[in-house]
Amino acid sequence: MSTNQLDKKSQAWSALFSEPMSDLVKRYTSSVFFDKRLWQADIQGSLAHAEMLHAQGLISADDWASIQKGMAQITAEIESGQFEWKLDLEDVHLNIEARLTQLVGDAGKRLHTGRSRNDQVATDVRLWLRGEVDEIGLLLTALQTALVDVAEQNADTILPGFTHLQVAQPVAFGHHLLAYVEMFARDAERFLDLRKRVNRLPLGSAALAGTSYPLDRERVARTLGFEAVSQNSLDAVSDRDFAIEFTAAASLVMVHVSRLSEELILWMSQSFGFIDLADRFCTGSSIMPQKKNPDVPELARGKTGRVVGHLMGLITLMKGQPLAYNKDNQEDKEPLFDTVDTLKDTLRIFSEMAAGITVKPEAMERAAKKGYATATDLADYLVKKGLPFRDAHEVVAHAVKDAIAAGVDLSELSLAQLQAYNPAVEQDVFEVLSLRGSLNARNLLGGTAPEQVRKQVARHRVRLG
Ligand code: ARG
Repeated sequence: MSTNQLDKKSQAWSALFSEPMSDLVKRYTSSVFFDKRLWQADIQGSLAHAEMLHAQGLISADDWASIQKGMAQITAEIESGQFEWKLDLEDVHLNIEARLTQLVGDAGKRLHTGRSRNDQVATDVRLWLRGEVDEIGLLLTALQTALVDVAEQNADTILPGFTHLQVAQPVAFGHHLLAYVEMFARDAERFLDLRKRVNRLPLGSAALAGTSYPLDRERVARTLGFEAVSQNSLDAVSDRDFAIEFTAAASLVMVHVSRLSEELILWMSQSFGFIDLADRFCTGSSIMPQKKNPDVPELARGKTGRVVGHLMGLITLMKGQPLAYNKDNQEDKEPLFDTVDTLKDTLRIFSEMAAGITVKPEAMERAAKKGYATATDLADYLVKKGLPFRDAHEVVAHAVKDAIAAGVDLSELSLAQLQAYNPAVEQDVFEVLSLRGSLNARNLLGGTAPEQVRKQVARHRVRLG
């Protein structure tokens, strides 16, 4: 390319082309208005590459100094909003390289020695994503901590536990919240695991086949903090598995958030009345003056569809692509960026919202009482008196049927009435039939007894630091 050929992309691509790209094609193929977001990673990657070129004797000390100086100026220009991003220059990589050449001349033109935009973009995305994975890890810790706090305050709070959304057995509200902590803990584990596969260096793969220059790839990897160097150039420039894996992990977080959202929405409805969300997370209605709507969890439930959609987009993007790099891969960025933005905002807002939940224990307990939540406890009681479980199950079904007809709870039947179902029943049955007795009885690892909830809270606190 002649002097500042890159700058003249408004003309033909290179000497090979007899006409410039049409405006429509320029708009269609350019990515600069979304991938400029990668500028820091791009400059970081270029500096590591240039430093290595110099160390290997492939560019002079003067060129290396000029590149550093130029990149410092470009950094300042971008940070102050003065950098002029040009659609004509297609993407973040060409924009920065062209400006560098404008600023420092030939040294800028030597930067691309032994490199292609194919290994460059793969490096940039990985560098950028690695930073985001680390931030998401911190946000997941914050959300778990907020939930553990509420769980600790509610180790003794009785909530009707549901199966099929029918009252099943009483559980501690704290135990219920810790179920979500388990989900988010697995999410954090997943991000930590996939980080290893994000953190590998493609640079040195060049366009697809590697390069004839004696590059020191390990050196670049060390400079950029990559823990390994890719081992096959064709794979390295075309692989987007790491982006798919990331989006899959993000989708699972959103699915967990969405399940929690659904519960918050139900619990806040008048029919449940179990909790209240702080006003700052709700909105009113323009027509119904009495309304307070849980918009934040509703929106989070909705945004889950968006992130799962990005996963579908990315995984479909790779299907049927021959080796090695294809322009299809430029389409990885918008879904990836939006996934990161949506996930981070959602995690931030949920940490705050969790801390602001008002719990209404009386309503929870009333609902648990209504649903014969201790029927299993009565059956277990009879088993302990010697009845086979299946017989006990049947006996209690009769008792529940009669109690429903009489409009009373099992604990409101008299001892004589209960003994009519089985003579082995004694006075101590009333402790068993109480919600608290039921809760306390499930005192084994993983169970809902308040003592277990407190043990789990302590375990999580150690884990979360
Ligand atoms: N903007 C491109 C992308 O995001 C950079 C790589 C372009 N490589 C190429 N050979 N056209 O994938």
